[in-house]
Amino acid sequence: MAEKPLLVAKIRNGTIIDHIPAGRALSILKLMGITGKEGFTVALVMNVESRKLGRKDIIKVEGLELKPEDTDKIALLAPMATINVVKEYAVVEKRKAVPPRIVEGFLKCKNPSCITNQRNEPVRPRFRTASYDPLKLVCDYCGLALTFEDIARQLESRT
Ligand code: CTP
Ligand code: ZN
Repeated sequence: MAEKPLLVAKIRNGTIIDHIPAGRALSILKLMGITGKEGFTVALVMNVESRKLGRKDIIKVEGLELKPEDTDKIALLAPMATINVVKEYAVVEKRKAVPPRIVEGFLKCKNPSCITNQRNEPVRPRFRTASYDPLKLVCDYCGLALTFEDIARQLESRT
């Protein structure tokens, strides 16, 4: 069967985040702190057909080689994501997104009386991964768990 033409051209050097659940590419860019003002060429492909996911998003960043520590947060929104490092047009490395062991600062605990939610002198929230599949993060201070759905809801409401 003839291959369908690519919607966005292949990149020469950089990183491609593939197999993102449809509609989540913008939230993932935000989570990674890519604003578009850094100067890299970035291509977003949203809601394209995928054999594995039905529909998916793809992010292509030209000129930036993302390291595992830059990409581990991606798994919080896209557990099936593949991170492809491209050099001279060839995929030289393919990694699965793995959630970070410790998540600090950007997720909120759901427990209103947790010390991370106090109005005066709040403590910076910190979670540990208690289970990878299904994803479960546990608050270091009060022990309350966040599920994958809780995490996705928090991160998606920010875009
Ligand atoms: N890609 C690209 N530029 C390149 C090489 C690859 O934009 N120079 C893109 C492809 O279009 C694809 C993704 O990077 O969206 C992964 O490429 P590849 O590993 O060749 O594709 P698959 O084998 O289909 O990947 P997978 O098995 O991970 O689904
Ligand atoms: Zn807590």
